[in-house]
Amino acid sequence: MQLRTTAALTAALISTLVILLPGATVEAHNITTILAKFPEFSTFNHYLTVTHLAGEINNRQTITVCAVNNAGMSDLLRKHLSVSAMKNVLSLHVLLDYFGAKKLHQITDGTALAATMFQATGTATGSSGFVNITDLKGGKVGFGSVESGTTDATFVRSLQEIAYNISVIQISSVLPSAEAEAPAPEPAAVNITELMSAHGCKNFADALRGSDAMSSYNDDIDGGLTVFCPIDDAFKGFVPKFKNLTVAGKQSLLEYHAVPVYQSMSMLKSSNGLMNTLATDGGKKYDFTVQNDGQDVTIKTGIVTAKIVGTLIDQQPLVIFTVDKVLLPKELFKGAVSPAPAPAPEADAPTAGAPKSAKKKKQHKSSPVTPAPASSESPADSPDDAVADAEADSNNGVEIKGFRFAAMGLSLSFLFIFLVM
Ligand SMILES: *[C@@H]1O[C@H](CO)[C@@H](O)[C@H](O)[C@H]1NC(C)=O
Ligand SMILES: *[C@@H]1O[C@H](CO)[C@@H](O)[C@H](O)[C@H]1NC(C)=O
Ligand SMILES: *[C@@H]1O[C@H](CO)[C@@H](O)[C@H](O)[C@H]1NC(C)=O
Ligand SMILES: *[C@@H]1O[C@H](CO)[C@@H](O)[C@H](O)[C@H]1NC(C)=O
Ligand SMILES: *[C@@H]1O[C@H](CO)[C@@H](O)[C@H](O)[C@H]1NC(C)=O
Repeated sequence: MQLRTTAALTAALISTLVILLPGATVEAHNITTILAKFPEFSTFNHYLTVTHLAGEINNRQTITVCAVNNAGMSDLLRKHLSVSAMKNVLSLHVLLDYFGAKKLHQITDGTALAATMFQATGTATGSSGFVNITDLKGGKVGFGSVESGTTDATFVRSLQEIAYNISVIQISSVLPSAEAEAPAPEPAAVNITELMSAHGCKNFADALRGSDAMSSYNDDIDGGLTVFCPIDDAFKGFVPKFKNLTVAGKQSLLEYHAVPVYQSMSMLKSSNGLMNTLATDGGKKYDFTVQNDGQDVTIKTGIVTAKIVGTLIDQQPLVIFTVDKVLLPKELFKGAVSPAPAPAPEADAPTAGAPKSAKKKKQHKSSPVTPAPASSESPADSPDDAVADAEADSNNGVEIKGFRFAAMGLSLSFLFIFLVM
């Protein structure tokens, strides 16, 4: 009986660990590798990489890629589309269902509508993200975008089939779609703060508008920018603390919420790890860790763990996500009081509070704990008071954290001993 309980608990622990492990999602296929075997598809393959569609294809199961050879792609290249328009066009060639050669030739009633990745992006209106597959006379199979209403291309051959994960087929030409090819508004033309304000991030936008950080954001947009913007519920209560920061501290805090590269959701999911921010500058780390948590993507600053809760815009090279907490960099808040507004009960929150601050300085002096190395790196850092405070606080935090871990370990061992007996 007890043994069974222990076994069950162990199993639960192990499965929890497996779920928590970053990158635990194993990719079953790699479209880049598959297409690399066919040099006549190098252009199509190249643009799957450039538009980051390759990653999205690899993250999906039950998918069909309708590839077009280099000759067919040259017609498309002549249109000199922007990267985001190119992404839309190519995503119309990725069907969200498995169509092997056999299935294509046995379509019930001779015609089938397939949803595409273009439909899934939400950019497509009405049924323009669907492809019409038709069995034609003489065993031919036709493909056309529903938008065009015509049969634009035909099935040529199967390149690779991994039933029922991915089918890569060749079609005779690019599927035309005025909507997919339409130029997206230039990212520089997007008013970031206006967009944020209109979608539940007004407080953050207000802080950003007119700040020096805003110009850093603007300077980086064209080369790629990923913004993590805290929702109003999170930023509102943080405002007093924000106002308390020095001018340079405010700038670092705001710049800490953006990364100078384009990172779509699927890219974040498949590239867990440490990430530099706009605030990173030589000795100033200002980095955080991106980590999957089940279907969610979290950002761990070392002070808080925030979760991505929405996407305001994803238009290469710009993407803006919303997060449920203000990202507090260690450089400014190490061990410090976590902001009152944090909606979820963050582990560190209870250690915070005014009553303790009186003891802080004393503990600092007599504390046996070595100060964390992070705080030593930039004594000349902008928010002098904040850093000094942070150092004092960090010892406090470390001590309490260490105690907490010890306590947790102890109670876990008791639990095991109890269960085994
Ligand atoms: C299909 O994908 C699943 C899940 O990733 C994987 O377990 C399976 O081995 C794949 N099938 C083949 C034939 O590769
Ligand atoms: C897929 O393969 C390409 C080259 O063959 C490689 O650069 C890329 O990292 C691979 N992607 C994944 C997710 O393994
Ligand atoms: C799909 O194509 C077939 C054949 O051209 C046509 O009869 C049918 O109406 C089309 N369906 C849609 C939804 O466009
Ligand atoms: C964005 O919009 C706000 C208010 O609507 C305005 O104050 C600001 O100047 C705009 N920014 C840019 C770069 O156009
Ligand atoms: C602002 O800073 C002062 C002095 O460092 C501190 O006493 C006060 O509690 C801070 N206020 C907030 C809201 O953090």
